Amino acid sequence: MRALVRETRLHPAQFILPLFVCPGEGVRREIGSMPNNYQLSIDELVKECVEVQSLGIGGVILFGLPESKDETASGAYADDGIVQRAIRAIRRETSRLLVMTDVCNCEYTSHGHCGFVKDNDVDNDVTLQWLAKTALSHARAGADIVAPSDMMDGRVGAIRQALDANGFEKIPILSYAAKFASVFYGPFREAAESAPQFGDRRSYQMDPANGREAMREIELDLEEGADMIMVKPALPYLDLIAEARRRFNVPIAAYQVSGEYSMIMAAARNGWIDCERAMFETLTSITRAGAGTILTYFAKPAARLLG
Ligand code: PBG
Repeated sequence: MRALVRETRLHPAQFILPLFVCPGEGVRREIGSMPNNYQLSIDELVKECVEVQSLGIGGVILFGLPESKDETASGAYADDGIVQRAIRAIRRETSRLLVMTDVCNCEYTSHGHCGFVKDNDVDNDVTLQWLAKTALSHARAGADIVAPSDMMDGRVGAIRQALDANGFEKIPILSYAAKFASVFYGPFREAAESAPQFGDRRSYQMDPANGREAMREIELDLEEGADMIMVKPALPYLDLIAEARRRFNVPIAAYQVSGEYSMIMAAARNGWIDCERAMFETLTSITRAGAGTILTYFAKPAARLLG
């Protein structure tokens, strides 16, 4: 009877699994703070993607660890960059898997900031050009969706323009529209080796205190041509997922970020919490709040248990 009247259901197709691709061959390096998640070389990544596809998971989102970093994030938009090569390899071995890419610079800059740094500050408009080039190179390699996560102003418009001008009108943009300057990205920065070397990201990511501003950010991204929008992190911002659901008739994604995952895993490993129940309770809550799509490091275990 409970199943009959249940209001919120989970399905593997709503999950997106974040994956970290690194140089080398046969590399499968577990991320200390994120048990069961790995830095994968391209050959290992492809195996992972075949498994993800067979589990009926909605898709993957790729993050790259380049061979080397520089001031201009050149590895982000190189045609033979790590993510670009990874997409091509995945394309060769999977037929149904949806491949999404994270479009950002922080994994590729020597200082770890998400854009061009001038006078100790990130230059918004120079960064837009890098982002447009990166998104275009991902589309050329075969990405299905590009997802800018940098939080520069005007990036959705710049990316849309670059894609359209080059024959990629049909590639959608999932904008990390309401992305907060959150402590919960900590484990990810270890995984992606992308912690800023000085300062923090508060000049471009949002203040956790500002919900109205989040709605404004979403509105602007939709005006610029975003096809789907994201709220990130997920659990501490359920109110904003719900508010966005009420206001905007577009697909809404939420990112259950690394810290949200690590907290559950750490508590579970200490025997303080039941991992499976915590996983399903959080995923259900995020869905109930209004996110149709969830980027989550639990995608595989959740999909397996959902059957
Ligand atoms: C890149 C990016 C970050 C995350 C996704 N894309 C890190 C950051 O903004 O510092 C975080 C994801 C996670 O914590 O799981 N800008």
